[in-house]
Amino acid sequence: MAVAMTLHTSRLLLRPFEPADAEAVHHLAGSRDVAAGTFLPHPMDRQAAHDWVTGRLTDQSAGTSVTFAVTLAESGQVIGSIGLELVLAHEQGRLSYWLGKTYWNRGYGTEAVRALLDYGFTSLKLHRIYAPHFHTNPASGRVLQKVGMTHEGRLREHYLRFGTRIDVEMYGLLRQEFIACRPVIDGEPPPRES
Ligand SMILES: CC(C)(COP(=O)(O)OP(=O)(O)OC[C@H]1O[C@@H](n2cnc3c(N)ncnc32)[C@H](O)[C@@H]1OP(=O)(O)O)[C@@H](O)C(=O)NCCC(=O)NCCS
Repeated sequence: MAVAMTLHTSRLLLRPFEPADAEAVHHLAGSRDVAAGTFLPHPMDRQAAHDWVTGRLTDQSAGTSVTFAVTLAESGQVIGSIGLELVLAHEQGRLSYWLGKTYWNRGYGTEAVRALLDYGFTSLKLHRIYAPHFHTNPASGRVLQKVGMTHEGRLREHYLRFGTRIDVEMYGLLRQEFIACRPVIDGEPPPRES
């Protein structure tokens, strides 16, 4: 499996996580507001953050997922994470992402998801990429709509998070749809890999 070292977008650089990123993960993903839309461990103390980063690196070596640290291209600051859980036998990937709360609502999530879709379909040659999001997390749904994914349905009371049963909205995109829609959904040139 080809794993890109970095993906470049206009404002972001997506690169593999390093163990030293655990401190940033602790600070960013330690927020309950960030955790509420995800299955990140919570509370995310330093050890949990270290274990989370190590787990991503282990899964990546095993070829079961690929995860990028989302960083600001200008400063190198880590602001979040984005990745694909892979089932290569079915040529599919499950998208997941989070950003530190300070960085929300500036278009970074959409920019990172666009880059991952391009990477998944172009480099990994996936046939389908899908993304579940909690019904209680409309910002995530909006990101998936903005990149051209299709709402495929709702899984009722599918997950239990912080003691509450949560409906899950499912979004998906097929390779042929991505290729057909790419000129429309790309507000900018495709990400550059290096
Ligand atoms: C989901 C997340 C990654 C979005 O990242 P982001 O950088 O804020 O996303 P963008 O700025 O690209 O787009 C956010 C969109 O949601 C909209 N939005 C924000 N809050 C909203 C709300 N409460 N209801 C409806 N729409 C909302 C914004 O207006 C924007 O849409 P617009 O461009 O049409 O105005 C970020 O909120 C996050 O990390 N949340 C916590 C972790 C998480 O939930 N991860 C997703 C798991 S599926």
